[in-house]
Amino acid sequence: MGKKIFSGVQPTGNLHLGNYLGAIKNFVDLNNDKDNKCIFCVVDLHAITVKQDPKELKNNIRETVATFVASGIDPKKSIIFNQSSVAAHAEGAWILSCVARMGWLNRMTQFKEKAGKDKEKASVGLYSYPVLMAADILLYDATHVPVGDDQKQHLELCRDIAQKFNNDFKVENFLQVPEPLIQKEFSRIMSLKDGSKKMSKSELSDLSRINLTDDKDQIINKIKKAKTDPLPLPQSMKELDERLEAKNLIGIYSSLTNSSLENSIKNFAGKNFSEFKEKLTEELVNKIEPISNEIKKLLGDKSYLDEILLDGVEKASLIASKKIERIKEIVGF
Ligand code: ADP
Ligand code: TRP
Repeated sequence: MGKKIFSGVQPTGNLHLGNYLGAIKNFVDLNNDKDNKCIFCVVDLHAITVKQDPKELKNNIRETVATFVASGIDPKKSIIFNQSSVAAHAEGAWILSCVARMGWLNRMTQFKEKAGKDKEKASVGLYSYPVLMAADILLYDATHVPVGDDQKQHLELCRDIAQKFNNDFKVENFLQVPEPLIQKEFSRIMSLKDGSKKMSKSELSDLSRINLTDDKDQIINKIKKAKTDPLPLPQSMKELDERLEAKNLIGIYSSLTNSSLENSIKNFAGKNFSEFKEKLTEELVNKIEPISNEIKKLLGDKSYLDEILLDGVEKASLIASKKIERIKEIVGF
């Protein structure tokens, strides 16, 4: 049976290889299966949980749409829309925030990481953001949610909220409890400068990530400068596990070539990094350069991107407004 897919990406600029291999590549495969119904949301309400420049935000919303399309998501087959244009997301988030418990949110590790040392100065939105994410998913009765590994805990919270709502209001199976779709391998791509840190949009050094808008020369340069260790490439999985940077680069290579880590190790065991990096660069350029070119081309046609969003908003509103009306009835409004 076909799946109902929902996922979101924040329009916060610098979409990178981690977003691509961890999430967007999976979106494309799911979108290509004609039995699935897919909805991909540009989560602009989530973006403002940390400070955004309003002009940049507007551009980043279009750039995220362009990235979806350039990566291979067909806007005719999937719904692509931005969250703030469908009011039910904010309404649903409020109602669900009265279902979710403080104790549940207090356990969220991403808040702790993002808020940093001074939690008192973090926005209330940053704290309650997983509840908004739950509303996103539950409004569309999504059965499956493709995300990177860092979102696993938020999905568990979403499942808990759905179950508590169904129990509290005695509406069995009304909110669909969704399943996460997280790739088993390569679900967390690490920084090119530090194999213990996630590749991230917010990392200051641009050399730490491959952006999906990087050109060939930038990719070549970043891989050349990517951190390694002085040894030749590892001979076994066990050795790989102990060498973070090698593991990350081999992981990226394997993901790009759709091969297993074991196979990649077999291919490169004992070789020098310089030889391996050449092959890795080749794969990266082959994959990323066409996406990067297409993003730039699409960004030149703002009205096309806006049309995709308008069409998506219309379709998403139809689904979400029905669900939020039922939710309101159920809680007694
Ligand atoms: P952020 O990049 O700030 O975590 P996004 O909303 O842009 O947040 O993330 C979009 C998707 O990309 C999410 O599913 C997230 O799990 C995934 N993702 C982000 N960074 C990585 C990474 N380094 N490796 C794998 N997946 C990632
Ligand atoms: N919180 C997710 C992230 O930062 C983005 C997101 C928002 C999302 N709503 C969602 C992902 C719903 C999946 C489903 O990456």
